[in-house]
Amino acid sequence: MSQQKIEKLEEEIKDLHYNPQIAKHSFSDQDTKEFYNNFWNIHIKPVIEYSKQMAEKYNADKEAVWLGAILHDIARLTDEEPHDEVGSEKAYKILMDKGFDKELAEKVKGIILTHRCRKYPPETMEQKIVASADAMAHFLPPFYLWIGKYTSKNFEEMIAGNLRKIERDYNEKIFFEDEKKMVEEQYKMLKNWLTYKI
Ligand SMILES: [Fe+2]
Repeated sequence: MSQQKIEKLEEEIKDLHYNPQIAKHSFSDQDTKEFYNNFWNIHIKPVIEYSKQMAEKYNADKEAVWLGAILHDIARLTDEEPHDEVGSEKAYKILMDKGFDKELAEKVKGIILTHRCRKYPPETMEQKIVASADAMAHFLPPFYLWIGKYTSKNFEEMIAGNLRKIERDYNEKIFFEDEKKMVEEQYKMLKNWLTYKI
């Protein structure tokens, strides 16, 4: 287990979120910094935590899952889309450059490619874990405040988009019944919050 090596990489990726190299389109340097700083704390960190818990619980490849979680949105740091496809290639390159095992790097590449459950659905246990963790982290309420702060959509579009996202995350991206239960209350609360009328 190259735990120290993965810890070091996690620190490096965290640093990139705290000191982003490229300013986000139409954002000042300060806003870019705040955006990615919060992205790390509100999203990437919980995805890592949920992924590690599930890797343990479901007896999956812990290193692949941990690395997959750390790197799953790496292409978002440079605003490159589709971030699952671009990110999987980038992550593979980072891991090979840092001397990680080729087989491990291939697994991580697959995890990142499938984490959005769109063109490439997750198949392996490790892929299902990170996809689920990604969706679960979206149920932490600050996530939607973060979206609201930075969205370029008008208010109605944003609310409609959030509702679609909540449904898709809950119904299509969480592959384990236990974990679905864990976020069930938050799912209901967010839905109620976004649709509430007097
Ligand atoms: Fe994500």
